[in-house]
Amino acid sequence: MKLLVVCLGNICRSPMGEGALRARIAEAGLDGWVQVDSAGTSGHWHAGRGPDPRAVACAHGHGADISGQRARQLLAEDFEEYDLILCADGANLRDAQALAPAGLATRAVLWLPWAGITGSDVIPDPYYGDVKDFEHSWALIDAAAQVTVRRLSRREDSGIIPA
Ligand code: 4NP
Repeated sequence: MKLLVVCLGNICRSPMGEGALRARIAEAGLDGWVQVDSAGTSGHWHAGRGPDPRAVACAHGHGADISGQRARQLLAEDFEEYDLILCADGANLRDAQALAPAGLATRAVLWLPWAGITGSDVIPDPYYGDVKDFEHSWALIDAAAQVTVRRLSRREDSGIIPA
């Protein structure tokens, strides 16, 4: 099972999403069964950069080290490679689906509604915000990551992971 988290710049939300998923996957003992990466719809701004230092600090505060990640742009091929493309907001979903090869657009979903998280459909972009905004985004992201990993471990979305 391969998961890809997508936001705009791949320096704030999706690196935190990748970090939260990796932590929850390790906690569930699913290392090796679930692979995770992240990408941005607009990689040309930040490609090759590490995550925003505020995202690194926020993740670190929650026990996840995301400092080694490097930003990259979402590619059409990602739709062939990944089973699920978890998008942070509606613009990310639209931009991602516009890249999708025929028949594969439904692999991209809006992450929070897909995970059944209520209260917000989108993970707000904390880039122009402060520590509080990063913490708010992390809380939504980690809630979605927990549900996602629980679903995978129950084989609700994958036939390849043992219960
Ligand atoms: P992200 O946040 O999509 O969560 O990585 C952003 C990062 C950079 C910019 C916007 C959003 N930017 O305008 O440079």
